[in-house]
Amino acid sequence: MAIEGAKARIAVVGAGLMGHGIAQVFALAGHDVAITDSFATNLGTVRSRIAANLRDLGDDESVALRVTPCADLAQAVRHADYVVEAVLEDLPLKQKLFAEIERHVRPDAILASNTSVIPITSIMQGLQWRERAVGTHWWNPPFLVPLVEVIETQWTSPQTVAFTMQLHEAAGKKPAHVKKDVPGFIGNRLQHALWREAIALVEQGICDAATVDAVIKASFGRRLAVLGPLENADLVGTDLTLAIHNTVLPAIDSRPSPSPYLQGLVADGKLGFKSGEGFRKWSVDEQAALRAKVMAHLKAARDT
Ligand SMILES: NC(=O)c1ccc[n+]([C@@H]2O[C@H](COP(=O)([O-])OP(=O)(O)OC[C@H]3O[C@@H](n4cnc5c(N)ncnc54)[C@H](O)[C@@H]3O)[C@@H](O)[C@H]2O)c1
Repeated sequence: MAIEGAKARIAVVGAGLMGHGIAQVFALAGHDVAITDSFATNLGTVRSRIAANLRDLGDDESVALRVTPCADLAQAVRHADYVVEAVLEDLPLKQKLFAEIERHVRPDAILASNTSVIPITSIMQGLQWRERAVGTHWWNPPFLVPLVEVIETQWTSPQTVAFTMQLHEAAGKKPAHVKKDVPGFIGNRLQHALWREAIALVEQGICDAATVDAVIKASFGRRLAVLGPLENADLVGTDLTLAIHNTVLPAIDSRPSPSPYLQGLVADGKLGFKSGEGFRKWSVDEQAALRAKVMAHLKAARDT
């Protein structure tokens, strides 16, 4: 783990939605970034996509020149201090890729996966040097959402965790140390606990999908960015929290598998934006308006 000064050699594997944004953040922090992708179009457009993001955010567009596209994986990772993978969410693909990466990297290079929910242990268990393997779960878009979950496995060395936390903090992110390698880590476990109940409310006919979203956005959603649930529990009192849980927890969904309602939507081809209907119907204009609203909100949050 030879990092001299503040500048590291970063390699990003996968130049899609997340990979190009991760490369952008590291380049903006002053690091040299090599990026590779098996799909030539994504590699060919990576610099222009990063430049467009930088322009849109009012950042220095020339930073995109610190990102070097490499068609060859071995060349991209050979000199790297730190390699982060952001290919498709496919366990055998990620396992195969890390076996290949390990053949070409320096023995002290740190290897990170940006998987959304797959345990890092499953991805990295075949590695020869597992002490330098770690998870780094970024959120979309990587250049606007601050959190990066840094996931430790039973083999990850304290030095690997410390370096990874420091690297992300210095790049302006808010790293959170996840001490046990559990599916979904912290953020997606919390997010999908909420989504499970949101779907159950619709499934049980308690309200429609638009009402679920409206209730959240007009109530605790307003506070969430500044008041976490456990801060909130302390604020109202743990005794009140206990009383509420005694009544509510037996009533809320605790099924350990996806809701039949959700499975029905997928079976019917109601896939959300991509098919024009999911829990609700979405015209092309409505989709664009919602995407724009989210980006405007995240940009405003960055500036505060
Ligand atoms: N999209 C999100 O909101 C989000 C958020 C957090 C984490 N993630 C995770 O990040 C990872 C990437 O997601 P994404 O949304 O960027 O996907 P994406 O489809 O936009 O990008 C994946 C890229 O990997 C490339 N690729 C596929 N196989 C490859 C290989 N063998 N070698 C090199 N490149 C290869 C593809 O060509 C593509 O450019 C996934 O594991 C995903 O679960 C996604």
